[in-house]
Amino acid sequence: MHFKIFKKIIRPIIIFLTLSLIFVILLFQIYFTSLPRAYNPPCESYHQLHNITYSQLSTYPPVKIFIGIFTTIETFERRHLLRKLYRYEINTRQFNKYIENEQKDLIDYKFILGKPNELITKEIKLKFKIESEAFQDIIILDDDENLNDGKTYYYFKWVAENLIKKVGENNTLKEYDYIVKTDDDSFINLKNLALNLRPFSQYTTSLYYGYMRTTSPDNSLKMYATGMIEVLSTKYAEKVGNLTISKEDLINHPEDVWLAWILMVNGMNEHWIGEQCLIYDDPRMIRYEPSKGSLIFPQTITIHNLKEDWRWNEVIEYFYGDY
Ligand SMILES: *[C@@H]1O[C@H](CO)[C@@H](O)[C@H](O)[C@H]1NC(C)=O
Ligand SMILES: *[C@@H]1O[C@H](CO)[C@@H](O)[C@H](O)[C@H]1NC(C)=O
Ligand SMILES: *[C@@H]1O[C@H](CO)[C@@H](O)[C@H](O)[C@H]1NC(C)=O
Repeated sequence: MHFKIFKKIIRPIIIFLTLSLIFVILLFQIYFTSLPRAYNPPCESYHQLHNITYSQLSTYPPVKIFIGIFTTIETFERRHLLRKLYRYEINTRQFNKYIENEQKDLIDYKFILGKPNELITKEIKLKFKIESEAFQDIIILDDDENLNDGKTYYYFKWVAENLIKKVGENNTLKEYDYIVKTDDDSFINLKNLALNLRPFSQYTTSLYYGYMRTTSPDNSLKMYATGMIEVLSTKYAEKVGNLTISKEDLINHPEDVWLAWILMVNGMNEHWIGEQCLIYDDPRMIRYEPSKGSLIFPQTITIHNLKEDWRWNEVIEYFYGDY
């Protein structure tokens, strides 16, 4: 009798629990294993492929970069984390400072949001207003908040109307060479971004740079820089912002594909350059391309898909831990 109960009830339960445990351990391994580290990248960067070593990058003239970080009103904590990291990096590396006989890059960033919709509560709006006034690093675009309905276009419109026209009037230091679009789930190593843009000085009017994804062979658009980081020369950014595009033509396009398309059909296709090594998704993700070795390395420009806070911890420890 007892044995029967064991066979019928207890044994399936034990088997079930064992399998669950194995499953949980596997999941745990996939999600929480520490970032595998490498001293050298497991792949070759664009510049390496063109015979420029990492140490040679610093011999090129410095660059001026503006970074727009796309974010939404509710992500207060993430904005604050990014703000701390980037301020820290800008200060410790003394970007934006003029130092005699030393070539310093200039890097500015702002958070980019659409207009908050009606669903946002009064409390959130107030908290946001205080944040915005306190830090002065938030730009609200002339468009309702959206993901795939033209936020990128309104960003470049803002860039063309506010950044390019107005700066330089009495501060020539701020005539940016490159305008960057990124998201609040991307980590950017500012130093490496600047260093890798340095050798492009002959392309400053005509560069489109990022991790390029190819499209299907029948598509006339051959590739596009994925939204984790899109770099445009200031001239291209201004041209995109100068375009007149109706609201209906902006609805429902993946923003990164849209940008490549707009560049292509408007003749901005001179230098589309893929950095396929130093820009990548979080190596702990299952979808990560194994060909890249699933590693994190010091020469990294961007790590994307850091959606949850725990994903940031080790990235921060890795890049800032040795200070
Ligand atoms: C890089 O250098 C190697 C060896 O000097 C040479 O064979 C190759 O053509 C160079 N590649 C480029 C893109 O300049
Ligand atoms: C820029 O111009 C404004 C208005 O003329 C002036 O108040 C300000 O001090 C100038 N800034 C610099 C950095 O020269
Ligand atoms: C964008 O428009 C402004 C104002 O109309 C113009 O001065 C500027 O040259 C245009 N920029 C480009 C890159 O076409």
